[in-house]
Amino acid sequence: MAGMTLLRKVLPALGWAVALLLVGRLLLLVQGVPGLLWPTLLLRMAALAVIAPALVAEFWVALHLNVHLPTWLLVWALMLLYGRLWLAIRRLWETLDTPTHLGRRAFLAGTGVVAASSYGVVNSYPDPEITRLPLPLQDLPPGLAGLRVVLLSDLHRGPAINRAYLEQVVKKVNGLRPDLILLPGDFVSKSSAYFADVTAVLSKLRPTIASFATLGNHDHWEGAEAAQRALSRAGVLLLQNRSIHLTEDRRLTMAGARGLCLAGVDDLGAGQPDLVAALAGVSPRVPTILLSHNPDFAEQPSALKSGSRVDLQVSGHTHGGQVILPGIGPVVSGSHFGLKYLYGHVQGPRWPVFVTRGIGASVLPLRIGSPPEIVVFELSGQDDSSRLPEPG
Ligand SMILES: [Fe+2]
Repeated sequence: MAGMTLLRKVLPALGWAVALLLVGRLLLLVQGVPGLLWPTLLLRMAALAVIAPALVAEFWVALHLNVHLPTWLLVWALMLLYGRLWLAIRRLWETLDTPTHLGRRAFLAGTGVVAASSYGVVNSYPDPEITRLPLPLQDLPPGLAGLRVVLLSDLHRGPAINRAYLEQVVKKVNGLRPDLILLPGDFVSKSSAYFADVTAVLSKLRPTIASFATLGNHDHWEGAEAAQRALSRAGVLLLQNRSIHLTEDRRLTMAGARGLCLAGVDDLGAGQPDLVAALAGVSPRVPTILLSHNPDFAEQPSALKSGSRVDLQVSGHTHGGQVILPGIGPVVSGSHFGLKYLYGHVQGPRWPVFVTRGIGASVLPLRIGSPPEIVVFELSGQDDSSRLPEPG
């Protein structure tokens, strides 16, 4: 009973606080720069008094609801810009001697558009999509049929992608009950300090067999040795120009005559890929999956002249274009072969390649038309390994 009385007292105060914060938000939206454009000092001070707590409260909410901080800051920067722009339009409207009520309507409509677009930007970094694909491999022993192989690329822990988001991704991956996890690089962006989070996040992966990685260009830029240490501490096996063999009874060995080979090459752009070393001693009767961060590796001279067997190269790097503008297409592809290796199954000159959109983002924490992705291959031992379906 006492609790109900307290609630009755507290609720109206909370309602007023929320209303005040909303007014502060709206004022900033409309005015651009807090309070500076109001006609008298008293009004300026009053506007600022309402706006300031709104800003602080929203900052607190952004932090605690795991909104990406750079995105949030970008939204506020856009708000200021929109506010100034809108003021300029209003002034122009007034000089044209337009009836006031029409100006107000346009003003309110514009405010709505700005609010809606800012909401869109805040929510522009979506949850990863799950792409499920069958992967028929010639010579796959029956004991390995049904194996679930998760492909998870371009985590890009950094200013644009926070640790909590990646922990959610890892939970999703574990929910897929993976047997093998393939991580073809770009674990961080902008600073080697983020490798500690990479260790923390990846050590929560729970494959039934093991996780494997290669390095990407960003890992090299921030420190290949730090990247290797981070992966090793997380229990991830680095396939840096080397391979490992999975036997029919699902044990990892150095080589074998029957089973599955997992090989990896160093990054094409920033590392030193060595395909000969990566595939040394691998039997041509063993189906082989090759990890290479950069899909362009499939077109390199070492790949073209290789006589080794590769059933599928798995890559990331392109982010599927990351930002695909309507009528324009992807802003960048990250490939020297135009849009050929932007996303999905591609037939390379020597072997098929699958390029995933990956998880993270470069430069801006934005994904438009190219959502983050986790891929799950289910292996089977079908005879015709060339029939690789398009992702649906
Ligand atoms: Fe990347």
